[in-house]
Amino acid sequence: LIGRVMVCLWTSCLTLYDPPSLPGGLFPSGSHEYEVFRFALTQQQDVPKLVPQVDMVDTGSSFSMTYAFCSQFSKGVYAIMGLYDRRTVNMLMSFCGSLHVCFVTPSFPVDTNNQFVLQLRPQLQEPVMALLEASYWTRFVYMYSADAGLSVLQRILDTAAERSWQVTSVNLDVLTEAAFVKLLIDLDFKKDFQIVVDCELERLNSILHVIAAQKRNLKNYHFILANLGFMDLNMTDLEKLGPNVTGFQLVNWSDPSVEKIGRDWYTGALTYDGVVVMATAFQNLRRQRIDISRRGNAGECLANPPAPWGQGIDIQRALQQVRLEGLTGRVQFDERGHRTNYTLSVMELSHTGARKIGYWTERRGYVNTDVYKPVQEEFYGLQNRTYVVTTILEAPYMMLKKNHEQYEGNERYEGYCAELAAEIAKHVGFVYRLELVGDGKYGARDPDTKLWNGMVGELVYGKADVAVAPLTITLVREQVIDFTKPFMSLGISIMIKKPTKSKPGVFSFLDPLAYEIWMCIVFAYIGVSVVLFLVSRFSPYEWKLARSPGFPQNQNQNPQKEKEAPEHTNDFGIFNSLWFSLGAFMQQGCDISPRSLSGRIVGGVWWFFTLIIISSYTANLAAFLTVERMVSPIEGAEDLAKQTEIAYGTLEGGSTKEFFKRSKIAVFEKMWSYMRSADPSVFVKSTNDGVIRVRKSKGKYAYLLESSMNEYIEQRKPCDTMKVGGNLDSKGYGVATPKGSALRNPVNLAVLKLNEQGLLDKLKNRWWYDKGECGTGGGDSKDKTSALSLSNVAGVFYILIGGLGLAMLVALVEFCYKSRIESRRMKVGVVS
Ligand SMILES: *[C@@H]1O[C@H](CO)[C@@H](O)[C@H](O)[C@H]1NC(C)=O
Ligand SMILES: *[C@@H]1O[C@H](CO)[C@@H](O)[C@H](O)[C@H]1NC(C)=O
Ligand SMILES: *[C@@H]1O[C@H](CO)[C@@H](O)[C@H](O)[C@H]1NC(C)=O
Ligand SMILES: *[C@@H]1O[C@H](CO)[C@@H](O)[C@H](O)[C@H]1NC(C)=O
Ligand SMILES: *[C@@H]1O[C@H](CO)[C@@H](O)[C@H](O)[C@H]1NC(C)=O
Repeated sequence: LIGRVMVCLWTSCLTLYDPPSLPGGLFPSGSHEYEVFRFALTQQQDVPKLVPQVDMVDTGSSFSMTYAFCSQFSKGVYAIMGLYDRRTVNMLMSFCGSLHVCFVTPSFPVDTNNQFVLQLRPQLQEPVMALLEASYWTRFVYMYSADAGLSVLQRILDTAAERSWQVTSVNLDVLTEAAFVKLLIDLDFKKDFQIVVDCELERLNSILHVIAAQKRNLKNYHFILANLGFMDLNMTDLEKLGPNVTGFQLVNWSDPSVEKIGRDWYTGALTYDGVVVMATAFQNLRRQRIDISRRGNAGECLANPPAPWGQGIDIQRALQQVRLEGLTGRVQFDERGHRTNYTLSVMELSHTGARKIGYWTERRGYVNTDVYKPVQEEFYGLQNRTYVVTTILEAPYMMLKKNHEQYEGNERYEGYCAELAAEIAKHVGFVYRLELVGDGKYGARDPDTKLWNGMVGELVYGKADVAVAPLTITLVREQVIDFTKPFMSLGISIMIKKPTKSKPGVFSFLDPLAYEIWMCIVFAYIGVSVVLFLVSRFSPYEWKLARSPGFPQNQNQNPQKEKEAPEHTNDFGIFNSLWFSLGAFMQQGCDISPRSLSGRIVGGVWWFFTLIIISSYTANLAAFLTVERMVSPIEGAEDLAKQTEIAYGTLEGGSTKEFFKRSKIAVFEKMWSYMRSADPSVFVKSTNDGVIRVRKSKGKYAYLLESSMNEYIEQRKPCDTMKVGGNLDSKGYGVATPKGSALRNPVNLAVLKLNEQGLLDKLKNRWWYDKGECGTGGGDSKDKTSALSLSNVAGVFYILIGGLGLAMLVALVEFCYKSRIESRRMKVGVVS
């Protein structure tokens, strides 16, 4: 029960005029922290007169701790360095707080606001949480030992409740070794392969030893060690069983400055840093000439009420303000006496030993730096084997040839990506085999199982070496696989049905003027004729002697009448009025013309009217006859957003939908709010469904899809869709390789080279336009404007033919009528 109390007093060097400073020490006997403490003090050459006051105590015993603490206090130490454990930590804290004595400790951190306890060991809650999040764990086993406090457990249980993680917690303190072995078998049976182990080094080492001793295959297991001494663990046995082990490392053992304390546990490095902190603080105090010696007035520890030491707060401040680069990295304390601004290396056990895969800092959280794995590239390089290239059937990127049964292997496929893969393989120099992705998907993470499917999954789980397919480069994918530079750039674009070209009808020459205008013209024509007739009747100047020259037909027609009685005649009977108006309207004129002022006014305004109408008609005519109208109702996203007549939508659950959901641009937000609430739904199950819907909706549906696909479909029969407007965003398709693959760099270089050689453009032209089924777009409209076809003017011919026919018919009627009259007259003549 009572620890060996060993009082080391080196009072021999105490001098009268300049008392030595007394750092106190409370260590369990034989602890290596004590060895380091002593060694560290001898290293502080530039701080004279550091005389330690050390007691060897049983840190688990309140009695011996209290006794040692009080005896040191009464001897006047200015700060104490030491260890505590679960049973004595609270007692120690309250002593420090009430007596204002600083306690510097490399022991496990405690969540307390007691500023007099300076905790050298960084807290692990945040780093462990960050690692759990980065590993996407939602169901795991948490093994802990209460020795090191329960702060991590508390944090994990809180988070688990918040996010409904399934955490099984196991208290290692109450387990015997046999029970632990049984637990391991149980975990194996339940497939609980994800385990967090949170305990002190010694215990952790023995646990890993027990696990390794099982000699079971641990390939499925992943351990996260909530401990700061990853490199201090002996994992030589465990390594062979192949589990994934991740943990933290505080001390950089390969740093030359660390070598001076020898390869020891990290608690040793913490102790060393603690001594340096105390020495530095002491030196600072001396420099500021603050006297901290307590000659003679050593306080009474158990006084009631406790009498705090007056200078305690100065010392506390001096200690807390120390900032230095120690063996454990940046040493800096916050106002609660906790370490701050420190960096932890995140380590992983690999087949070549422990390896740094990232780091953790308060400011940046967990940063994974394990991207290149240069070790693998250097050692493996390109292998002499057939690489598996995963891909997906998607026209025109990858298609089965029409007669693919006759071919073998890669020959069965054709398309943009088939040729791209061949070019890349040629440049890099590897042999490959195209394989279609098993589930026919591109690759997304399942929200429940957190597993990747599709081509991304094949890469992640090592089933394929390269993916050559229209695979969009995205953040989440880039986190698990490597992409080359994009081989094709694209963006979201709008597909609409081509507006039907209106073929000009037979009577299209009527189109330049609206139907109402034609009606008005007819009425105007009749009205003008009638007015002209009436005006001519009333106006005396329109009447003339029948003999007057200029009317030869009258002369010839009725010679007898003229001779008999010179009579007043008027040219503008109703028929002549109509004829005059018609002649004027057709711009032909006629032999008669009004002579009275009133008649001429009528004629004048009618000519003017005619002039304007005919000019307008002529001006429009060419355009209406030649241009086959193809006016698109939509020119871009703004047009779509503005209107409600044309519905528009995207693929259900694709990146396009996601784009609108996330967009903060006003136009897209407006479009999203429409799409989200549209009824019936505007989302479609597949790209093909979307295209069919566009084709069938008679222009009342627009589909938003990736521009490359849009351009391709525009070139496919029945050629009735088109892309309008620019792209709404921009992204790229990239060739993908697994993280750390030896192919990554050569493939990337090959893609860049192909791009610079213009081969990618050539490929795109070949698969989009040369093999298009719709001819060259854009060229045909120009051809059509130059020449009129018969159909444009057929109506004019019909009218001509109709007119001629009518004329012949009328001539026949006239002939019959006249001959009837003649015959009757002849009969009368004969009879008389
Ligand atoms: C272990 O790590 C390797 C490489 O990081 C990874 O491929 C494998 O899936 C991991 N295994 C488990 C069980 O997490
Ligand atoms: C690690 O453990 C193995 C066996 O348990 C032992 O042979 C080896 O010496 C140990 N290594 C170190 C560095 O302690
Ligand atoms: C350790 O320190 C050495 C030398 O300063 C440095 O090269 C190395 O990257 C460091 N290792 C880690 C894991 O920080
Ligand atoms: C954190 O540490 C770095 C040196 O490692 C130092 O430059 C920086 O000022 C520190 N930050 C704060 C907030 O003290
Ligand atoms: C690759 O393997 C083939 C047969 O497996 C062998 O003939 C060839 O020499 C090997 N090439 C290299 C560079 O190792």
